[in-house]
Amino acid sequence: MKRAIRKVAVIGAGSMGSGIAAQFANGGVPVVLLDVAGPEDDRTAPARAGLERQLKAQGFMDPSAAELVSVGSIEDDLDAVADADWIVEAVVEDPVVKRRLFARLDALRKPGAVVSSNTSTIPLAQLTEGASEAFRRDFVITHFFNPPRHMRLMELVAGPDTAPETAALVRDAAETVLGKTVVDCRDTPAFIANRLGCHWMSVAAIEALRHGLTVEQADAMAGAPFGVPRTAIFGLLDLVGIDLVPLVWGSLLGALPAADAHHHHDLTAEPLIRRLIAEGRIGRKAKGGFYRLAPGSKAREA
Ligand code: NAI
Repeated sequence: MKRAIRKVAVIGAGSMGSGIAAQFANGGVPVVLLDVAGPEDDRTAPARAGLERQLKAQGFMDPSAAELVSVGSIEDDLDAVADADWIVEAVVEDPVVKRRLFARLDALRKPGAVVSSNTSTIPLAQLTEGASEAFRRDFVITHFFNPPRHMRLMELVAGPDTAPETAALVRDAAETVLGKTVVDCRDTPAFIANRLGCHWMSVAAIEALRHGLTVEQADAMAGAPFGVPRTAIFGLLDLVGIDLVPLVWGSLLGALPAADAHHHHDLTAEPLIRRLIAEGRIGRKAKGGFYRLAPGSKAREA
């Protein structure tokens, strides 16, 4: 039977997973969205909270699309992936956590169901270490950008064992259901956009901090002249989540050959980044980061 995407499962209901789930629902595809379990009396709370944040952020084009999304917990409801044609993994950027989840998904998924990871930086070869042959055939990286509703780019990474029809199916669904522009990437650390993006964001952020610019000055300078929104450096870090800096930069710098790593600055080492993380000011998904979130308050230097 011809493979088609009739049902999707998204694992991880954070900034990206809930946004990706909303995009499938906007495209008319039923989705189950799972996250870690909440307290005993409300096990689906984390996934539901992620979905509600999407509603507030207008992740749905039509509120009725929200009805296509059901929520659950990874602990109680992982078997809901059994009838999914495409399972998108969007949990924390940690290869060990992702691989452990893949082994469980491999045991539950139906034959031929696609599994993809939304990793920002982890090479496919590392994600599929120890995986079954069948899993490798059906696995790709689908790297969406934040926010998934508005960013049209999707990087697609296929491995040496990925079946050509798996990559073709994902490409077709991403283009037709989600309206994405799909770019094929080789399996290199952080692929294309983040390999470049991490580099220029580090340089720009570190220079701005050293020269004592305000966040608004730095974002205005790095944004408008280059045709990107005013959220160029610090606004983008607030959007991405400052808690991702150690994970994304750590993973990228750890994976690069020494000659390349030498050109990259380690944003993780910046005391201000460390302080914001320690204070829980990790960006838009929390109580603000470089910019405050209180209505009417002005952005200020962190
Ligand atoms: P997030 O922190 O907003 O959400 C991660 C979700 O994973 C949370 O809801 C959390 O409950 C869940 N989680 C944490 N530990 C877990 C575990 N042990 N098992 C299962 N679930 C667990 O993170 P975000 O930003 O949504 O990132 C998810 C993935 O997408 C990461 O791989 C990240 O690198 C990637 N990504 C992030 C982008 C961004 O701008 N934030 C852009 C593109 C990719």
